[in-house]
Amino acid sequence: MFNGSVAIVTGGESGIGAACAKALGNAGAHVVITYFRDAAAAQQICASIGDASRAMAVQTDVGDEAAVTALFATTEKAFGTATLLVNSAGLNMSGVLLADMELAQFDRVMRSDLYGPFLTCRAFVRGLEAANLKGRIVNISSIHERAPRPGGVDYDSAKGGLSQLTATLALELAPKGIAVNGVAPGMILTPMNQSALSHPAELRAKEAAIPWGRAGQPDEVASLVSYLLSPAADYITGTTVTIDGALSLTVAQGA
Ligand SMILES: NC(=O)c1ccc[n+]([C@@H]2O[C@H](COP(=O)([O-])OP(=O)(O)OC[C@H]3O[C@@H](n4cnc5c(N)ncnc54)[C@H](O)[C@@H]3O)[C@@H](O)[C@H]2O)c1
Repeated sequence: MFNGSVAIVTGGESGIGAACAKALGNAGAHVVITYFRDAAAAQQICASIGDASRAMAVQTDVGDEAAVTALFATTEKAFGTATLLVNSAGLNMSGVLLADMELAQFDRVMRSDLYGPFLTCRAFVRGLEAANLKGRIVNISSIHERAPRPGGVDYDSAKGGLSQLTATLALELAPKGIAVNGVAPGMILTPMNQSALSHPAELRAKEAAIPWGRAGQPDEVASLVSYLLSPAADYITGTTVTIDGALSLTVAQGA
């Protein structure tokens, strides 16, 4: 489906990003993944796609402007201009209430979850414009872009901003043939939910709150992302697709 395309997947060393990288790679794309800390995991993901002519990993802090510039330059040199972008890198909420939250904590999550997509989308669009190419972006948001939680002022603010970044860019970039969509997962079993993965009772309790009766798997998100990046989704831009087993609909029940 993606034969010959060049895809960049941020946060590709783990969880949803890793699943997206594998799905795109297995469907024929050349894939560049970013990793933050775990070089070995990143190499393993790349090896599962193919040799160095098919996949490579670049250490990148997505909130660092120079690092993102270097990521796109490296990609261009290795594989050519990227026409597919998945922004999956991100940190979860801290659980710290506002009065106790250090600015550095707020800044850390804003940098990974909002500045990161701003910087990668900008570099991506600049590359497409220079090469006169069209492209597609998927930003991995969260149901918490709309559903707030106490202790989530860092994450909820960043994902709320990401939702508007996605919508604004969709309008701005439609005339250039660049589609921008969001995917808003609910509970997906990745290291971001390590506590539930490690504690069966916690997992059971959380899954009991999900109308569909279970948490999601990273591969299920990757299938949706692949579709949104594919030619079959050509007319889809400016929307965010929720993938949460109806969890986000469970507000104000029984009132
Ligand atoms: N797992 C869930 O239940 C869930 C639910 C909703 C949304 N999401 C979103 O999905 C995305 C992927 O999360 P996941 O579940 O795969 O978690 P994960 O922890 O497995 O992966 C997140 C990745 O982002 C990387 N990262 C963090 N900060 C970074 C930075 N500044 N620069 C570069 N990389 C950085 C981490 O190293 C890691 O590889 C995140 O944006 C997350 O907010 C996840």
